[in-house]
Amino acid sequence: MADTARHPFLQGLSKHRGAPPTVVVIFGASGDLTARKLIPAVYNLAYDNLLPADFFLVGFGRKAIPDEEFRGLAAEAIKEFSRRELKADVWDRLAPLTTYVAGGYDEPAAFTRLAAHLDAIEKQLGREVQTLFYISTPPTVFAPIIRNLGSSGLAARHLGQLHQAKVIIEKPFGRDLISARALNVTLRSVFEETQVYRIDHYLGKETVQDLLVQRFANSIFEPLWNRNFISSVQITVAEEVGVGSRGGYYEQSGCLRDMIQNHAMQLVALTAMEPPVSLEAEAIRDEKVKLLRAIQPLNLGPAGDVSRAQYAAGMVAGKPVPGYLEEEGISPTSATETYAALRLSINNWRWQGVPFYLRSGKRLARRVSEIAVTFRRPPGTLFAEGDKFDLSANTLAFQIQPDEGMHLVVNTKIPGLETRTQPVKMSFRYRTTFGSNTAEAYERLVLDAMVGDGTLFIRGDETEASWQLCSPLLGVWEGSGREGMQSYAAGSWGPTGADSLIARDQCAWRQP
Ligand code: BG6
Repeated sequence: MADTARHPFLQGLSKHRGAPPTVVVIFGASGDLTARKLIPAVYNLAYDNLLPADFFLVGFGRKAIPDEEFRGLAAEAIKEFSRRELKADVWDRLAPLTTYVAGGYDEPAAFTRLAAHLDAIEKQLGREVQTLFYISTPPTVFAPIIRNLGSSGLAARHLGQLHQAKVIIEKPFGRDLISARALNVTLRSVFEETQVYRIDHYLGKETVQDLLVQRFANSIFEPLWNRNFISSVQITVAEEVGVGSRGGYYEQSGCLRDMIQNHAMQLVALTAMEPPVSLEAEAIRDEKVKLLRAIQPLNLGPAGDVSRAQYAAGMVAGKPVPGYLEEEGISPTSATETYAALRLSINNWRWQGVPFYLRSGKRLARRVSEIAVTFRRPPGTLFAEGDKFDLSANTLAFQIQPDEGMHLVVNTKIPGLETRTQPVKMSFRYRTTFGSNTAEAYERLVLDAMVGDGTLFIRGDETEASWQLCSPLLGVWEGSGREGMQSYAAGSWGPTGADSLIARDQCAWRQP
């Protein structure tokens, strides 16, 4: 009680979610992600009284920025990007706890300064706090930051026996299997695996977490969740936006690295993994790794399992947009794909023979991410598709965004004096059932890391298992330049190669 009175942040904390006193240090504090996602996430946690009683935010970056100016930038970021407006009483509590340290990422003396800054915070507070480092910089400086955290002694900071320093690391986690392994080795030379939180913000999305609940808390789904009842699974992560001002980054990345290796593969793992023995982080991650390892190497030959393409000029939301090769910062001869589609085969007892189709791209017809599970059709002895019977395979679609929810396609009799049928959609929408304005993925993830819950983060072996699948494909694509690269009009649903890929199995992409 006394603590709640002293610390208004504590009021909204359930015991279960209570994080210990924490200082969050953001490397890359003047970067885009910090402004768009991290500062608004911290602000919204403060708004909901979910921050620990003693909380501090320290920005670290190359640029010299006085504390006051950093607070001003943070306030601007909240005004522009937070899902809720900047409320004076919340910001007045958070602002004085926000400070900034300038320094180079490969400059050991800067890390000594940072350590002195954290010591001063503790001294003033009169107690130790947990330290959470958030590495939100370009990947080129991940390794120097990690090494400097080690050599400066910062990585060894802890709050009592229980709360070792933690490190959240942003994507991209490596650019292939070799570099991901090397990054894991660097991390492990400084931190224990339990201190490392590799982020994939898709795991922080409501509907992605709901997948576990739907699968394992509903007895109507689990018995059907296998090759006997499911004929195929389609995972779509479609974006309307182009590369915008991120051309420099995207040219070095491409769709496979940017979206498939991480976000889409996580969706595959959660959709297809075996039931974990508990909801503990390790139990869930063990199952995800097993699943990822059961995915067969891709057929990379002609008429194989993959399709790649770049967007050409077209119309998006009624406006003309340029093609990828005309975008700012993009080479006119670029061989970077903005669209990728894959056909995965999972060679285990549950899924053998059930294709998993994945597609992701920029400048597609609309922004939508979904997982659609299509069930086998019943025998057609009574109702067979034809004039009178308009039938569809039952499909259960988890819509991750926008308009989060779940839809089930079932066949129904059309009212009338004769028996005619039509597929209809039964829908559940988060917005209508629970109201809008759900927490952003980063809020959940920052809170989880503070609490020490790694369930929604990627373990080292998991990221390597995913790269194991994608790396050979990247090697082939990089070796063949633009050969086999198709194009698709901006605002369309992608290239013809992706249609042929799925048509070989007598399937077609859904129009979500
Ligand atoms: C990021 C990618 O990881 O995810 C971006 O780097 C992409 O290119 C973004 O636009 C999509 O995230 P969301 O949450 O908008 O689907």
